[in-house]
Amino acid sequence: MPMHSLPENAPATLGEAFAIINAATHPTLDVLRLMVLAEAAGKTLYEGMAETVPNEAVRTLLRHNGREELAHAHRVSRAIGVLTGTDYPVPAPEENPYLATPMNPPVVTPEMLNGLAQTEFNGDALYEGWARNTDNADVAALLRLNGSEETEHGQRLQQAAALLAAG
Ligand SMILES: [Fe+2]
Ligand SMILES: [Fe+2]
Repeated sequence: MPMHSLPENAPATLGEAFAIINAATHPTLDVLRLMVLAEAAGKTLYEGMAETVPNEAVRTLLRHNGREELAHAHRVSRAIGVLTGTDYPVPAPEENPYLATPMNPPVVTPEMLNGLAQTEFNGDALYEGWARNTDNADVAALLRLNGSEETEHGQRLQQAAALLAAG
């Protein structure tokens, strides 16, 4: 499958893309395109983490988050469609330029999961800020739907951390 091309002026790595996304106060098209790729990559990252965990309940929680990250990519794609008339394509994992370099999944520990939960809660705040900083009500609604699910992701990760800690 052909590689999905990076948006113009996009950084080369997922880490740099996340840095730009997290620093963005407004949902510009450039940032929304990066977000489609980052959310789509999120599914693969959660799946990679899940594969390393023997605890089935924890695996299920991680995969649930992963499926929703892909749904988030599709909602952001639709938001771009609302703004431009054309949805931005959501890449399959093998087409996603931010997954071109294989990454070792992080070691899953209760501490790591609790840390990741905070990142998810921050994701809700980020989406909420973007929703406030767009004039388009349909775009704002799509961003807020994603945001509310990021809080659920954080809660699922805290639940997973407690399950792992209980052994
Ligand atoms: Fe997400
Ligand atoms: Fe999330």
